Amino acid sequence: MRSIPFFRAIFLLLPLIGTSRALVLLPNSSSSSVDGTTTAEDDLLSTQDVSGDTECAAASAATSFFLSFVSYGNYTALPGDGDDSGGLVPPQVVSMSFAVANEANGVYTICAFPLGYLSGGNPGTWIDDPSWQACADRRDTDGKHRFTIATGAAFGLTDRYIAVNQTWFCHDDAGRLVAYTGIANGILNMSCADGGELGGYHVENCTSPDVELPVTLL
Ligand SMILES: *[C@@H]1O[C@H](CO)[C@@H](O)[C@H](O)[C@H]1NC(C)=O
Ligand SMILES: *[C@@H]1O[C@H](CO)[C@@H](O)[C@H](O)[C@H]1NC(C)=O
Ligand SMILES: *[C@@H]1O[C@H](CO)[C@@H](O)[C@H](O)[C@H]1NC(C)=O
Ligand SMILES: *[C@@H]1O[C@H](CO)[C@@H](O)[C@H](O)[C@H]1NC(C)=O
Ligand SMILES: *[C@@H]1O[C@H](CO)[C@@H](O)[C@H](O)[C@H]1NC(C)=O
Repeated sequence: MRSIPFFRAIFLLLPLIGTSRALVLLPNSSSSSVDGTTTAEDDLLSTQDVSGDTECAAASAATSFFLSFVSYGNYTALPGDGDDSGGLVPPQVVSMSFAVANEANGVYTICAFPLGYLSGGNPGTWIDDPSWQACADRRDTDGKHRFTIATGAAFGLTDRYIAVNQTWFCHDDAGRLVAYTGIANGILNMSCADGGELGGYHVENCTSPDVELPVTLL
């Protein structure tokens, strides 16, 4: 781990990520929380400007993605709420969130996405789906060029297998801005606890210790 920027970033994230346990990405809306209020999380998930280290070519050869605040929530509508609301409250949602920092340049971003979808039918049932999801983009500049750091992630509930990929930019020896794309993966050790009731849902929250995943450049 290097980087004061990274730790400063995490410090700023701390109070915000707490709310992410309540974050649910409903199928038809980009982002909302279970109680329908918007939070700072909505801003975190949008594209933000960052200022990473663009002298990162050497560090990129052997970088890692550092995952923190890893958790998913399993939200099950309390009896009554799912039936009486005309289908507005989904009977179940399973939703993942974490922060990811690229140790090569100190840039962090947020991933938050549902781990599947509700099947059709009434009531619908939750179908696990470990397909790739987009994380929040980050916009950066080296003073001359503006570029977007794109990140994706996939997580399977059954095998707890996580994969994270990213495209980022560093200056090469000649000072040119070069794109890097890398992927990292691992098995998360999730431990789950009863999170009580929240906004008409029973919540089970599952968390993982922070984890550092070595990156393979593509
Ligand atoms: C959600 O979107 C699907 C297809 O995009 C649509 O069939 C469905 O009616 C929408 N549901 C709501 C509650 O808007
Ligand atoms: C979520 O909770 C429901 C109700 O307790 C349970 O049936 C389901 O297996 C849970 N799903 C996960 C992924 O833990
Ligand atoms: C990550 O991988 C998925 C699946 O191959 C791909 O659709 C996505 O574009 C990739 N994202 C990045 C940032 O490399
Ligand atoms: C999960 O736990 C096992 C056993 O404690 C450990 O060997 C492994 O490194 C852990 N995995 C992660 C991704 O932390
Ligand atoms: C689950 O959520 C509850 C309430 O928000 C919290 O007290 C508890 O520490 C959380 N458990 C885990 C494992 O995160």
